Amino acid sequence: MKHVTVFDTTLRDGEQTPGISFPLNYKIQIARQLDKLGVDIIEAGFPMASKGEFDAVKTIANLGLDSKICGLSRIVRSDIDSALDSEVDMVHIFISTSRIQIEHTIKKSRDEIIQMAVDAVEYIKDNGRLCMFSAMDATRTEMEYLIKINKAVENAGVDIINVPDTVGVITPFKFYEIIKELRGELKIPIDVHCHNDLGLAVSNTHAAVLAGADEVQVTINGIGERAGNASLAEVVMILHSIEGIKTNIRTEYLVETSKLIERMTGIKIPPNTPIVGDNAFSHESGIHAHGVIKESATFEPGIITPEMVGHRRRIVIGKHAGRHQIKKILEDAGYSVDEEQLSTIVEKIKDLGDKGKKVTDLDLFTIAEILLGELKKEEKSINVNEVTVLTGNKITPTAVINADISGSRKVKSAIGVGPVDAALNAVTGLVGKDVRITEFRMDAITGGSDALAEVYVTVEDDVGDTFTARSAGPDIIMTSIDAVIRAVNHIIHRRKKNSQ
Ligand code: KIV
Ligand code: ZN
Repeated sequence: MKHVTVFDTTLRDGEQTPGISFPLNYKIQIARQLDKLGVDIIEAGFPMASKGEFDAVKTIANLGLDSKICGLSRIVRSDIDSALDSEVDMVHIFISTSRIQIEHTIKKSRDEIIQMAVDAVEYIKDNGRLCMFSAMDATRTEMEYLIKINKAVENAGVDIINVPDTVGVITPFKFYEIIKELRGELKIPIDVHCHNDLGLAVSNTHAAVLAGADEVQVTINGIGERAGNASLAEVVMILHSIEGIKTNIRTEYLVETSKLIERMTGIKIPPNTPIVGDNAFSHESGIHAHGVIKESATFEPGIITPEMVGHRRRIVIGKHAGRHQIKKILEDAGYSVDEEQLSTIVEKIKDLGDKGKKVTDLDLFTIAEILLGELKKEEKSINVNEVTVLTGNKITPTAVINADISGSRKVKSAIGVGPVDAALNAVTGLVGKDVRITEFRMDAITGGSDALAEVYVTVEDDVGDTFTARSAGPDIIMTSIDAVIRAVNHIIHRRKKNSQ
């Protein structure tokens, strides 16, 4: 069975995402997580770029990880020395080979470029390191020249060549042909690096592997220059589950790794992202949910399960929800309703949806509780007494909340990037470390400065169960706090109910 190695460039091309710069402690955490995930090679950075970058690459190279550590370098001696000094296992050298880049950026003859590449490879090999060579903008380079330069570095002793689709313009069929031709010309392993300018990075990487590529360059969440690089999770799951091609990736850590990068970059993963997005295994429509409750493969790929990638299947509430699904959600939350009560609940949920409301778990449970006459009996675990928020220019937004939690008075203060953030940090601080806000959305319901704000939140508990709630009001801070407290109260209420 074919085996493909995984070269992760989250810390190098990924860090070239506009607006992203990882501090050293983040880089170390990311490198450790990539190692845990089973990545074969981690491109830790571009040592010549700055002193901080050099130190970071050197620190990662000395963490004692199982993954090999690679540093990027232009084919100039000072860059290569910097990479060698950073103590990486592999130096990844690159130079432009397409007409447009040669003419406008490096202004060297093609023969000079080949000679520089050969000298660089020989120097790195003389220093006892692994060497990867990239003909930058390979997919816009004349094929004859691409073969010539790659053969020259092969003869000079390079360990692996990379074929970058630097500006993301190749298509799967054409890339297949390029890799097939190179495969026929070269004996050394071939790696590919695809950018996502036209949304084809994953498909192109897939095609390249089918054509004989031995290694894939990818990033977590597909981050990278401009529209990013091929997503590790998507490429790996295509190889494993569709092609039966192995990698060393421990797929059960894919979601965990994706969430880490989401937190560290501040770039939210869209919920409909394949494999790792919140909706990847969520079902709202009645027909789908009914099928999935009986047999998950009815409306899921089947060849990938949530467990394989460290995800969870969720049956969610919404206006498309059907009876079975609503019944299952209620039962899972500890509510038992008869057929007539269920019909009333289904009708009310659809009615809410038709009015354009995003139907939340809280709506469903509140409707059920009113119907079952339980609502008044529910003792709220958290009651907010006082909220004070300080903000202004030259003041770090700070919030202080005084609340009764299960009968005892607690006060918590927190800071944030803004007043709402500070208030929400104080709320989650009050509740303890086992809840976190995974989604927060605020809309103005009416226009003008007296607009009513509508806040949706999703709160996740320590076992990964999520709960959505909504609140509306004229004060954005109090409305936000109210929505979170509602969700948390229901999490606590549901726990109590389930343990009865
Ligand atoms: O996109 C690209 O060509 C690169 C090279 C450095 C491999 O990132
Ligand atoms: Zn790139």
